[in-house]
Amino acid sequence: MNRRTVATAIVILMLVVLATWLSGCGSKPAPAPAPPPTTEVIQPVSGPPPAQPPPAPPAGAEDESGAAANAVDLIAAWAQAGAPETAPFAYTGVDGATYQAAFAADILPLFTQNNVWFEGSQACTGCHFANAENSYHEMDLSSYKGILTGADSLEEPPGVSILGESEPGKGDIDWSHSKLRERLRNNRMPPGSEFDITEANRDGPCLAVSAQGVEAALGEYDCELTAVGLIAAWVEAGAPEGGFAYGGAEMDFERDVLPFFTENNMWFQGSQACTGCHFANAENSYHEMDLSSHQGILTGADSLEEPPGVSILGESEPGKGDFDWSHSKLRERLRNNRMPPGFEFDITEGNRDGPMILAGTRK
Ligand code: HEC
Ligand code: HEC
Repeated sequence: MNRRTVATAIVILMLVVLATWLSGCGSKPAPAPAPPPTTEVIQPVSGPPPAQPPPAPPAGAEDESGAAANAVDLIAAWAQAGAPETAPFAYTGVDGATYQAAFAADILPLFTQNNVWFEGSQACTGCHFANAENSYHEMDLSSYKGILTGADSLEEPPGVSILGESEPGKGDIDWSHSKLRERLRNNRMPPGSEFDITEANRDGPCLAVSAQGVEAALGEYDCELTAVGLIAAWVEAGAPEGGFAYGGAEMDFERDVLPFFTENNMWFQGSQACTGCHFANAENSYHEMDLSSHQGILTGADSLEEPPGVSILGESEPGKGDFDWSHSKLRERLRNNRMPPGFEFDITEGNRDGPMILAGTRK
């Protein structure tokens, strides 16, 4: 050991003693000032790159989502503009602004393309492709001319307008009373009817009638006596609260008709009673409608919003007595399937105006 080594050892020893003494001091009550907060931020050499502003959209690719609109609203705007073939028409986008659209690019694809209305929806033209007998309702939804000609063009020439015209070509388009609007928005009642392309189930199940009343044969269709036929006979007899004739037997409203509104399993296996959803002239009953009694059925729909109500039996006003079964809402709702087939029944009514559409495709 030389002197230098000894001196170093002594210094180290003194430092150790000093450090020990100081650390002992640290535990004494004398308050030591808190260490200042570290202000210097130590950056790792390879840190994250400084934050950048979001990338600018590529030039020319504008965000057009505000221009989308519900399919039925778009068709309504076209019809209400007079159903022009080439001239642009105005409609309101989801953002509330006004946009322009045209028949060929924005309307026709809603009838001719698959998957437009919901995932898996068939094109209307799969079933309505020509003014020919083998096309449903002799209807051609593949062209401007076909859509304006409408339904039953051979059976009732020149056709039955689906845009609410008094006759195809008259120009008195009435969208809110049009068959097209109804078929796009309105669900068949009661919900859950199977779509039957042969149309056999549209009049409801077959019935046997006798002096004891009606007997429904669930799952059997296409007979002379049916549930819809029974209700039609009742309305055509003036919708009495008591007796009327059907199929050569004496029927009674309460015993024979009312159960088709108030009981489960009357229309098909598993069908719900109408009164499950339409039980009172109250806001929380769908369409403010009460199908539980003679009085309720005659009052009809929307009794609070449009008093005294909107007849479902085709009367000009509830109580007027001018029943018109063939144009009644009740007949429509019992017989007519929503188009295209396969729409899910949505009790919130959220899907009645169709999906959001932009440039002829679902968003
Ligand atoms: C799978 C076949 C099929 C497809 C697809 C279809 N329909 Fe129909 N459509 C029918 C049948 C069958 C009827 C008659 C039975 C009924 O009323 O439920 C009908 C009836 C109609 C009627 C009533 C015509 C009248 O005078 O009462 C309209 C309107 C209609 N369809 C429009 C459409 C529209 C619009 C689409 C597409 C969004 C469409 N249909 C898709 C089969 C189809
Ligand atoms: C599960 C609930 C539910 C049941 C059951 C039900 N409905 Fe409906 N009904 C609705 C909803 C929701 C609406 C409105 C949405 C729509 O039009 O699709 C409606 C609308 C109607 C309308 C249209 C009223 C108008 O002024 O446009 C009639 C008519 C109707 N239903 C009759 C019936 C009949 C008849 C039955 C039984 C045979 C029945 N409903 C069973 C839920 C139901």
